Amino acid sequence: MITIIAGTNRPNSNTLKVAKYYEKQLAEKGLASTLFDLQDLPANFIATDLYGKRSEAFEKIQELITQTRKFLFVIPEYNGSFPGVLKAFIDACIFPESFYDKKACLVGISSGKYGNIRGIEHFNGVCAYLHLHVMPLRLHIPYIKQELNEHGALFMEDTLKFTNQQIDKFIAY
Ligand SMILES: Cc1cc2nc3c(=O)[nH]c(=O)nc-3n(C[C@H](O)[C@H](O)[C@H](O)COP(=O)(O)O)c2cc1C
Repeated sequence: MITIIAGTNRPNSNTLKVAKYYEKQLAEKGLASTLFDLQDLPANFIATDLYGKRSEAFEKIQELITQTRKFLFVIPEYNGSFPGVLKAFIDACIFPESFYDKKACLVGISSGKYGNIRGIEHFNGVCAYLHLHVMPLRLHIPYIKQELNEHGALFMEDTLKFTNQQIDKFIAY
């Protein structure tokens, strides 16, 4: 089972648009996936789902994570790293079995010129700790606002080429 994680809870995020793009591309290649948007975390999960606590709402999310074998994370650059809400989400998931010996594909996006190179590197370190095996081809999409068309889809030729290559490798990974 494949789950795409949209790595921010910011409303109307470009991250969600890119995550939906990947979901659609995977579907076109015949692979069903589930998209989990961090906006759908319980609003108060920092109080209700960390350090051994568990809410009913998070239980369903935990079930999704437990059943997932392959994750595709779309991660925006926030202050030179990945969003804090993504780390809080990882911290709330059961350790170690949520991610242990599973597989992950990472996509970084940013409005600036670096495409979240540092945030992806930082998140890669977290994945290494979790024994979550990251696919070597990690993509960085800078200037994301120029990369999305009026339908919220990627359209630039080289970006389509590299995302397509990444998706094919992820399917085979
Ligand atoms: C809290 C916050 C911090 C941000 N920090 C950076 C940054 O360090 N570098 C950058 O290029 N863009 C930064 N951005 C802009 C995001 O990269 C931009 O909003 C982009 O669309 C991806 O984020 P989104 O999915 O929230 O839309 C930041 C945005 C927010 C909300």
